[in-house]
Amino acid sequence: MASAGVVAAAVVVAALAAFCATDPLRLGSMVDFPGFEAHPVELPDAAEMPPHADAGERLRGAEIRFRGEVQGPESVAFDPRGRGPYTGVADGRVLVWDGARWAYFAHASPAWTADRCGGPKASPTEYLRDEHVCGRALGIRFDKRTGDLYIADAYFGLSKVGPEGGLATPLATEAEGVRFNFTNDLDLDADGNVYFTDSSVLYQRRHFMQLVFSGDASGRLLKYNPQTKETTVLHRNLQFPNGVSLSKDGSFFVFCEGSRGRLSRYWLKGEKAGTVDLFAILPGFPDNVRTNDKGEFWVAIHCRRSAYARLLSHRVQLRKFLLSLPIPAKYHYLMQIGGNLHALIIKYSPEGEVLDILEDTKGQVVRAVSEVEEKDGKLWIGSVLMPFIAVFDYAKESG
Ligand SMILES: *[C@@H]1O[C@H](CO)[C@@H](O)[C@H](O)[C@H]1NC(C)=O
Repeated sequence: MASAGVVAAAVVVAALAAFCATDPLRLGSMVDFPGFEAHPVELPDAAEMPPHADAGERLRGAEIRFRGEVQGPESVAFDPRGRGPYTGVADGRVLVWDGARWAYFAHASPAWTADRCGGPKASPTEYLRDEHVCGRALGIRFDKRTGDLYIADAYFGLSKVGPEGGLATPLATEAEGVRFNFTNDLDLDADGNVYFTDSSVLYQRRHFMQLVFSGDASGRLLKYNPQTKETTVLHRNLQFPNGVSLSKDGSFFVFCEGSRGRLSRYWLKGEKAGTVDLFAILPGFPDNVRTNDKGEFWVAIHCRRSAYARLLSHRVQLRKFLLSLPIPAKYHYLMQIGGNLHALIIKYSPEGEVLDILEDTKGQVVRAVSEVEEKDGKLWIGSVLMPFIAVFDYAKESG
């Protein structure tokens, strides 16, 4: 096994030589975080993965919509009257499709100005540079009773805006005196309690690669109570907690553990209330999860786990050494995802059984998926990195 480590090191050094330490995306490297810690990541056994993949590469049949009109639309939602989609984009705004064009709907940053934040910009990097000022809405959900939109903004915490939109009102920016540094996703129960994630206390979204590589375990699962206006910590020491989605009957919600690649279940009702158990093991790094009308869960998996990721998960010293080299985060990332962006979405039953897998293993049409929102038999697929939304006609395709 030591030789495997040497091979990995050689490959990384070769990548370094080839790319001459350029950093076109300006994603930084671990050199920007002297004294960082690397943590072991407990990955599930390869044998426990869902056995079959999508040989038909059905995701390639998705239709690419709004190309160039939406930059990095991570989360997709429809309001209680069925209008939309709404989505959060790279310049910090939440936009709404009004049937003819994308229009401004809301934003969470009080410092948002068209001058600094507005687009279009030359490259996605330009957005990344300013997003701690402009905001980045990663998780959006409507309260079906009131029509209010709840926003998990990576930099501005949990906030809420009325059905008319505009600047959102902050609800929570810290818990137990510790500020959120990477608010990521949310869902609401029937009483209006909000369950949400802070992916890390130490790393912001613009440093998400550093968060992934370090295996940082400062993520928290949180609850905001609208009656008391208090935020409590439900679960802590999580490695990149991300998507959150309630079960149809409201007895539990699932949340994605990004680094460990699994879905966990937090029980809200019954004997197990307040406890967490394993819901499903995922073959890669999940982003958001959404529940459909039947109570099934769609999980968007950003990418499959590569042999490299598996190799380094436990070799903390080797990982720390590789990370401490002046290698741009981008190249660690390419190793982590196995060389190319691709797409994988999985549907789970309310009990956690795999019901369907859709893939585009080469990323020919769809890449780096962030969320799957099912509406009227269609899958609306967002991506935090892509300039489009993919729409897959699932009802038609599955007969
Ligand atoms: C939040 O993250 C940034 C880096 O992404 C870091 O510099 C900062 O110290 C973090 N905040 C806290 C309180 O640790």
